[in-house]
Amino acid sequence: MTILVTGGAGFIGSNFVLDWLAGSDEPVVNLDKLTYAGNKENLASLEGDQRHIFVHGDIGDAALISRLLVEHKPRAVLNFAAESHVDRSIHGPEDFIQTNIVGTFHLLESVRAYWNAFSSDTERNDFRFLHVSTDEVYGSLSRTDPAFSETNRYEPNSPYSASKAASDHLVRAYHHTYGLPVLTTNCSNNYGPYHFPEKLIPLCILNALQGKDLPIYGDGQQIRDWLYVKDHCSAIRRVLEGGRLGEVYNVGGWNEKANLDVVNDLCSILDELQPRADGNSYSTQISFVKDRAGHDRRYAIDASKLEKELGWKPAETFETGIRKTVQWYLDNQPWVDNISSGAYKDWVNKQYAV
Ligand code: NAD
Ligand code: DAU
Repeated sequence: MTILVTGGAGFIGSNFVLDWLAGSDEPVVNLDKLTYAGNKENLASLEGDQRHIFVHGDIGDAALISRLLVEHKPRAVLNFAAESHVDRSIHGPEDFIQTNIVGTFHLLESVRAYWNAFSSDTERNDFRFLHVSTDEVYGSLSRTDPAFSETNRYEPNSPYSASKAASDHLVRAYHHTYGLPVLTTNCSNNYGPYHFPEKLIPLCILNALQGKDLPIYGDGQQIRDWLYVKDHCSAIRRVLEGGRLGEVYNVGGWNEKANLDVVNDLCSILDELQPRADGNSYSTQISFVKDRAGHDRRYAIDASKLEKELGWKPAETFETGIRKTVQWYLDNQPWVDNISSGAYKDWVNKQYAV
């Protein structure tokens, strides 16, 4: 048995692959385009491991996907691949449309052909296509609105969330129209190891240590619901094994926090673990900057369906997860240096080749 993971050199995908292979001998075919966000160094500990088959490629490349499916016969395809950064989608939406919508469509088409060609109903029934999506498809909440449930209307506000919403709809349609056995997860903001430092938490950790400003958009009172990445990975595994076909599962950690509070928390942990030479707090580096266009005010996830149906619970609170995260960045200076200098791209040319 094998699974095919797309986007497995990115932040969540690489955590998923590492966790999967730490707990199972079932091989992983890992297809990744290695965009700026793909980092093979995240997978360095798997070098030489026969259970990890890395393939450099695009989810939109139907011929490649079809070949991989026939060759490796996965029992499941998990789609992590996406353009994922809201700010980039505001400045240039095209790649988001191409990968998140058109790419997902091509992937679904290849998977449908593969699934249709199974010789028995048992194989067809056992197959899964799991689509990894986001809470951003539901739009923005006021302070008093209840958290997003799976029945909330889709009201995406950024080109990123609109492209993810479109991909979710395609996945849903392939279940209803063709019977493809799909599952969709919509998760809140992740943080943890291997997070690309364009996103708030890793950006602020690295900027703090490098003596740079910590940019807070607008008033910093926007709320996000934070989940440690390993808890997202465990939720995906749980949904893959036990989720009801065609269903959507929200994933979240019940950890709503305003951005300014998140950054102040990071600063306090850094003040304790690696105090500034001048004795001042890292929080003095906080700088309020122009707000993000169309900035969603609040996200909050109601994960009770996943908890009740599949017995999933996050292992980390925000306090434990964020401390582990800060410590991880302090302990992994070479990874940080390679990202900061751009040298991480050299890993494309290294062994377990492209
Ligand atoms: P990321 O940007 O860190 O990684 C994305 C990966 O996909 C990269 O390795 C990239 O090279 C690869 N990729 C991009 N385009 C591709 C293509 N056309 N073909 C093959 N590979 C391609 O993203 P992430 O934060 O790890 O997010 C993974 C998934 O989880 C995304 O679908 C995202 O929408 C979703 N998600 C993310 C979060 C979060 O907080 N980061 C929360 C909920 C859902
Ligand atoms: O909610 C899930 C989503 O979380 C995922 O679908 C996305 O892929 C992921 O990138 C993330 O989106 P956000 O836009 O919420 O994450 P980001 O880290 O970019 O921003 C978090 C909050 O911090 C947001 O309110 C914007 C703010 N921010 C961000 C940056 C990069 C700042 O104030 N300053 C910054 O420099």
